[in-house]
Amino acid sequence: MRQRKPLVVANWKMNGSLDLVQQMSDALSVLKQPLPDILICPPVIFLSYFPKHANYKLGAQNMSEQLVGAFTGEISADMLRTAGASHVIIGHSERRALYGELDSVISQKVKVAVDAGLTPILCVGETLQQREEEKTLQVLARQLDAVYAAQPHLLAHSVVSYEPIWAIGTGQTATPQQAQQVHQFIRQHLAQYDVQAADAVKIIYGGSVTAANCEALFAEADIDGALIGGASLKVADFSAICTMAKDS
Ligand code: 13P
Repeated sequence: MRQRKPLVVANWKMNGSLDLVQQMSDALSVLKQPLPDILICPPVIFLSYFPKHANYKLGAQNMSEQLVGAFTGEISADMLRTAGASHVIIGHSERRALYGELDSVISQKVKVAVDAGLTPILCVGETLQQREEEKTLQVLARQLDAVYAAQPHLLAHSVVSYEPIWAIGTGQTATPQQAQQVHQFIRQHLAQYDVQAADAVKIIYGGSVTAANCEALFAEADIDGALIGGASLKVADFSAICTMAKDS
């Protein structure tokens, strides 16, 4: 029996509509228990349109590292809480690559999220070039250390997501063995900060997860769920993934 309850996260990115909000909430509401923990991270403008008291939680895809003030276009952790979010994705590779988010900012965001009562989902992952140069573990260690070396107490309040950049949106999923090897490394690496928290932390996989390939991923010992982009926009596929995760 697995100790860590599986977590399935939908990252809609800058996609979706009020129609999809309705269709997704209707579809999830009829799924039978037992279910994994389910989290929907739509564009924040849609958060308040989801029904309250559902069998899933809501999250955001990003937030400001600032608490309040003159930061045009930004949204604070407190505002996300007010809008109904319990979680926030932090350090997604698209934020790192397209918006220049540095490890130092990501580290601050994780702290601010936890202080506000949000659960951060810290994304880490390597590029194809880094993998080919056999630098994967080194890159991941740097990304993890940037957050937890100086703030190890945050680990007990976090979810970690391994998202190899070469697998995102490409249809080229990591094999279950490749992903398990990295997840195991992440857990072992985090144990230097807090053995108990490293054992309890959910480490979820992201990168071209579909209803067809998720079962084999979920069967691996250190893969505690998935962070899903494209397939989370398809109601039937996402529902099927949730149903399969509950059995893992
Ligand atoms: P895809 O599932 O579309 O590959 O996206 C993964 C991802 O980036 C989730 O955060």
